[in-house]
Amino acid sequence: MITVPDPLKPSGGPVGKPVSRVDGPLKVTGAAKYAAEFRAEGMLYGVVVSAAVARGAIETIDAAAALAVPGVVRVFTHENRPRTAWFDSKWRDEVAPPGSPFRPLYDEHVHYSGQPVALVVADTFEAARYAASLVTVACSAGAHETDLKAARAKAATPPKFRMSTDEPAPRGNADRALKAAAVRVDAEYTQPAEFHNPMEAHATTAVYESDGALTVYDKIQGAANSQTFVCNVFGLAKEKVRVVSPFVGGAFGSGLRPQYQLFLAVMGALELKRPVRVVLTRQQMFTFGHRPETLQSVSLGAGADGALQAIAHEAVAETSRYEDYTENLVNWSGMAYRCDHVKLGYKLAKLDVATPCDMRAPGATTGVFALECAMDELAHAAGVDPVELRLRNYAEKDQVNDRPYSSKELRACYREGAAKFGWAARNPVPRSTRRGTALVGWGMAGGMWDAFQQPASARAVLSADGTLTASSATADIGTGTYTVMTQIAAEALGLPVEAVAFKLGDSSLPAAPIEGGSWTVSSVGTAVKAACDGVREEALALARKLEDSPLAKAELEDVIFADGHIGLKTDASKRLALADVLKRSGVAAVEKTVEAVPNLVKQQPYSRAAHGAAFVEVEVDEDFGTVKVTRVVSAVAAGRIINPKTARSQILGAVVWGIGMALHEAAAVDHALGRVMNHNYGEYHVPVHADVPDIGVIFVDEPDDVVNPLGAKGVGEIGIVGVAAAVANAVFHATGKRVRDLPITLDKLL
Ligand code: MOS
Repeated sequence: MITVPDPLKPSGGPVGKPVSRVDGPLKVTGAAKYAAEFRAEGMLYGVVVSAAVARGAIETIDAAAALAVPGVVRVFTHENRPRTAWFDSKWRDEVAPPGSPFRPLYDEHVHYSGQPVALVVADTFEAARYAASLVTVACSAGAHETDLKAARAKAATPPKFRMSTDEPAPRGNADRALKAAAVRVDAEYTQPAEFHNPMEAHATTAVYESDGALTVYDKIQGAANSQTFVCNVFGLAKEKVRVVSPFVGGAFGSGLRPQYQLFLAVMGALELKRPVRVVLTRQQMFTFGHRPETLQSVSLGAGADGALQAIAHEAVAETSRYEDYTENLVNWSGMAYRCDHVKLGYKLAKLDVATPCDMRAPGATTGVFALECAMDELAHAAGVDPVELRLRNYAEKDQVNDRPYSSKELRACYREGAAKFGWAARNPVPRSTRRGTALVGWGMAGGMWDAFQQPASARAVLSADGTLTASSATADIGTGTYTVMTQIAAEALGLPVEAVAFKLGDSSLPAAPIEGGSWTVSSVGTAVKAACDGVREEALALARKLEDSPLAKAELEDVIFADGHIGLKTDASKRLALADVLKRSGVAAVEKTVEAVPNLVKQQPYSRAAHGAAFVEVEVDEDFGTVKVTRVVSAVAAGRIINPKTARSQILGAVVWGIGMALHEAAAVDHALGRVMNHNYGEYHVPVHADVPDIGVIFVDEPDDVVNPLGAKGVGEIGIVGVAAAVANAVFHATGKRVRDLPITLDKLL
């Protein structure tokens, strides 16, 4: 008989424990090196010159004054840039949307304001920066469009790209059901473009080696993506390009695709045969991908009891002229609740902007914001408590694919979140609660995100000194990958975490996908576990062969790996130290490299997703309209939590961002110039400490042996989904005023 271990059962090992970040000391002492901190002999510095028009053509670039600055080595423009392979051949990066990817310095055309049009390279950063200010770019400006509302009528259905963004066929007859509904909500929700703004600016240090090979230190969420990009674009063999990215100072999606500084630094290094570093300025961080502005109409129809009869959700989002960036925006509305009549629509409008890109829970963050605000409006209209309304419409299975979920403990999220928040004491009447001069409001919303798994590889090496090194070309964008993988490896071999090291962020390591989609634990973690399982088998095989081995007849299921030993389950005294097994066998190391792929037979009968519920209290000053979030409880169902400390940090960061989305963040575009005006931390508002209250995080129990062998769904993204809606719903409860246009700034409340 085969016994299946319960993936949630506490093992006594490090998995499930709040292990502190293993890379913490390196980070807080400054020993952790980021892309712009690697140095090489004879290094040059590149500074990017950005276009000042949103659409047009460069007529002349005058670099004479820049070239006259002492220390300036070269000014690259479209007129003198080297020919590279990409100008002749098709190339893509790992996550490029359909279209023609942006090529820096390709030709005279300007596609968006801020587009890089020249790279000034000098032997000091200061010389390059000063010289860049002297480059004169004369542009003929064409008529541009950056206003989504103005371009809305021209929006069109995008080509199919990612499976998940294909809109599902309509169910039933939503129009008819809406007409017949006793209670109805029709509302439009809008949210501006948001920019990622990680603390670490995008940077590349490209080191030209004497044999023509390149070592590239890049800020990227997957070293292999940059490696493939560089090889394709510059026509280089894989062996000639190594991409190293051990630490990433935040990315949130902005580092999924190689950004233009990578091309510019590598071009400079190859052409000048010297190391070149290019770091974008904070202003230039607003000149590529971003969360697209969206306009969403939602109609809900329900019976008098709030039971949903119809959902219609249509969205228009922006994209660039040259690529069709799509995200799974409206499909959640067909899955989230039990409803027979559903109609979804999704269109893109092309603007003269850089292509948007994934930003933390892309699509869900904005689509579920609209749905969950509309659900709050329905609760109010039907006179049903918002939690009760969601329970009445609870979807036991995935409505779109008509499949059960591998697990879905959203009810527990509602229940435990509401209990911790004290939701039962809520007076449903808006403007009913005051605290001094403030109106107090309580709001809630639910959220969901896919539980993905991608193929990934890992290596595990057990050394004769009893230590284990595991590795994979994955990334740690601040999420805790180093720590969690160390725990998984330590658990598998029964070693203390101190005896385990994990390496990542290097394209020469076993292949792994970009760190995105909340899939790193499920994908890379499964690979690490599989590689370690291989090491276990081989270590036992060696142990069995030793002279007078107490484990001579032991099978894998007869032994446990604990305290650095392999021992018999039935007799704890019969055990051998792993280090001794290797030494006595005359083996320096046991090594396994494994590719782990999703178990489709097991997974496909189920839909797989993480769920959550956020409860928010706000105080709104009645005189000034200022909103302060005073309390948040976020309850999350994401399968097994490998590390409750780093997982909690993921939820905290996501909730903070949800607050920012609701109250602060907005790219302010001057449509006359077609340019983001507030392209700096001073004017692009994000929450600061004073904006963030105590945040309670709950992980509900959710056993799941379908999603992957670890039972973990990933927590990188689920924490932000629904938070902005919960804040907006709390603001309505406080004030009786429904603000459907984010961010909810004080002018909209007065
Ligand atoms: Mo995330 S937007 O998949 O980095």
